[in-house]
Amino acid sequence: MEYTNLLLEKNGAVAVLTINRPKALNALNSDTLSELSTVLDELGRDSSVKVVILTGSGEKAFIAGADISQMKDFSPMEGRRFAQLGHATFRKLELLPQPVIAAVNGFALGGGCELAMACDIRLASENAKFGQPEVTLGLTAGFGGTQRLPRLVGTGLASELLFTGDVIDVQEAYRIGLVNHVYPLATLMEETLKLAKRMAGRAPVAVQLSKSAIQRGSNMDLDSAQAYEAEVFGLTFSTKDQIEGCTAFVEKRKPIFEGR
Ligand code: CAA
Repeated sequence: MEYTNLLLEKNGAVAVLTINRPKALNALNSDTLSELSTVLDELGRDSSVKVVILTGSGEKAFIAGADISQMKDFSPMEGRRFAQLGHATFRKLELLPQPVIAAVNGFALGGGCELAMACDIRLASENAKFGQPEVTLGLTAGFGGTQRLPRLVGTGLASELLFTGDVIDVQEAYRIGLVNHVYPLATLMEETLKLAKRMAGRAPVAVQLSKSAIQRGSNMDLDSAQAYEAEVFGLTFSTKDQIEGCTAFVEKRKPIFEGR
């Protein structure tokens, strides 16, 4: 399918999805969110895709937030619908069967920071900057920032960022656990692909079930989450890849996984 504000490329088992509105620093308007929702359905159905990388077009921004020029004249109902569209789309991303890595190549502000947080893993370039500057616009974070940021970095640090709108550099983002690794901009995509390919080489069903256990389990109490983990663990014994993985270990050879 053709998209106006997105680019989708396949690199073997890795899909690279780029938000492509460089003139607006990839700001998310409702058309872009709708396209994102559609492409996620497409990716979720594509069993040849084992890992997804999400990035922004150009060398300056991952995503500079929700589109301020669109939001400027919203009525309260339009504001609520926009937040709901963001929530539904980002949740779809979070629950996509395949892991998603954010390659944060510059500004990740407001909705951009929120989108990065809905990804499973965040890698970033040295020029990346993070923040939730909504309060500087008279807004609150509206695409899950008040919920995912405290879960990722703790309530105290999240409150400071959400109440001040301060923008932090990548070293601070790394220090507080918002990003896993920092690379020069020139090598960010190469390093992200390396990580994606390492993950794509593992047993796909086991990787997807691990993601499901993390995402579903993190919203459950420990006993329910462990019960879910036990179900997921048991399910792996129905796969050919489990037999192949364990047999290969015993036979001291590399496993060949089929994704079944
Ligand atoms: N929405 C719409 N357009 C945006 C945008 C946004 N979030 N961010 C940048 N742009 C546009 C600018 O208007 C500008 O367009 P023109 O060339 O047509 O004037 C273009 O992108 C380039 O931006 P700047 O000239 O501002 O570039 P800069 O290098 O001087 O500054 C920046 C870069 C610091 C990221 C600055 O653009 C900025 O502060 N952007 C807004 C960041 C922000 O506040 N994001 C939060 C939005 S609210 C939100 O996201 C709510 C939510 O949770 C749902």
